[in-house]
Amino acid sequence: MKRVFLETYGCQMNVADSELMIGVLERAGFSLVEKPDDADAILLNTCAIREHAEQRVLGRLGEFARLKNRRPGLVVGVAGCMAQHLRARLLDRSTVLDLVVGPDGYRALPDLLRRAADEPVAHVRLDRDETYGDLEPRRGSGVRAWVTVQRGCDKFCTYCVVPYTRGRERSLPLPDLIGQVERAVAAGHREVVFLGQTVNAYHDGRHDFADLLRAADRVAGLARIRYTSPHPSDMSARVIAAMAECPKVMPQVHLPLQSGSDRILEAMRRTYTRADYLDVVERLRAAIPGLALSTDIIVGFPGETADDFEHTAATMREVGFDSAFLFKYSARPDTRAWSWPETVDEAEKGRRLTALIDLQQRLSAASNDATVGHDVEVLVEGRARRNLDQLHGKSAHFKTVVFEDDGSATGELRRVRIVAATPLTLIGTTRVRAMASESLVSIS
Ligand code: 5AD
Ligand code: SF4
Repeated sequence: MKRVFLETYGCQMNVADSELMIGVLERAGFSLVEKPDDADAILLNTCAIREHAEQRVLGRLGEFARLKNRRPGLVVGVAGCMAQHLRARLLDRSTVLDLVVGPDGYRALPDLLRRAADEPVAHVRLDRDETYGDLEPRRGSGVRAWVTVQRGCDKFCTYCVVPYTRGRERSLPLPDLIGQVERAVAAGHREVVFLGQTVNAYHDGRHDFADLLRAADRVAGLARIRYTSPHPSDMSARVIAAMAECPKVMPQVHLPLQSGSDRILEAMRRTYTRADYLDVVERLRAAIPGLALSTDIIVGFPGETADDFEHTAATMREVGFDSAFLFKYSARPDTRAWSWPETVDEAEKGRRLTALIDLQQRLSAASNDATVGHDVEVLVEGRARRNLDQLHGKSAHFKTVVFEDDGSATGELRRVRIVAATPLTLIGTTRVRAMASESLVSIS
């Protein structure tokens, strides 16, 4: 029982948790395989944020059931938020499953996998002290390293299952995190992204999030720092000042709005009003010129009227987000809103979602068009997926930039002139001078 196939669903926190699991497994002598067919054990690291996420995993388990019919010794496990959410019910519901392990059980993973070979095992105890601060993740090879600085969430927004699946908020000690950043840089990573459900509420008892940004900014060899996702109510003057003053902290924030209606924000228990949110945006923009802003929005929350929805669209226009993740409300068991009658039917949710997608498409196009003719600094990530003659990377504003392969190495910072834009991508070139002289020649 040594070869594990691991598949990850959901958010970046899950990607980082999978790297943590791989670290734990490899140290215990397990190895990772690329295909389910080659594995002794299959693990799905799952998400419970919307019903659709769980349905996808249940569908995938159906596929693994067929594989297991052919290979009865195969161990199949579900890890992460859906495991925590459904707990033992998962073992009952699915005959294919041997292991259910929640987000606070990964330290025991090698042992759990061995036991699961004999009988079904569930480890779904949340542990308010578990931070995995002493466990080194096995990071991927990209330019970007994901560093979990905080686990769990104490906000209990009424729609959200995360406080129930990931437990109470806890922060990792700052010295451990700076150690992780230094080792990530030594391993070749150029950018770190600090992760937490309300990452700017980070506090380890001695340091807050501003301290963490400033300490990371001093790490030699690191080029860029980002973080996700902050909560608007925790965007303190200290954090804004640290962002403004630390050159490595990129001028980009993903700041979930959820709704632009005060009535709905109140029902969601987001702890801020539309005006409070706009005030945070104003303070951020005053301190960090040219700041890029993205957001999360939910349409069709119980009680959302056409008027509430209009307030959301108006707020999106007012802020002029560079990009947005837009979701239809999905009622989740355990949350406060679960028992509230749904007042927006599926068709209307769909219409509202489509309207916001169209709006965001226009806002993104406007924001990207404004970069045409300007130079941006790109951290090169490698060859573009669609066109292998091109390279791709992110600008400081976290916009995807593609440009011709000019021999730049992955991990290099490159000045790129933007020549065209779509709502999703900037198209650039590094041959600015060459282009200029060619056009001069053709003119003469
Ligand atoms: N339904 C729809 N979207 C949700 N999100 C969280 N819970 C739900 C839910 N029950 C969205 C929020 C959050 C993002 C990660 O997922 O917008 O910011
Ligand atoms: Fe969920 Fe709200 Fe916590 Fe974000 S802040 S993880 S939406 S409960």
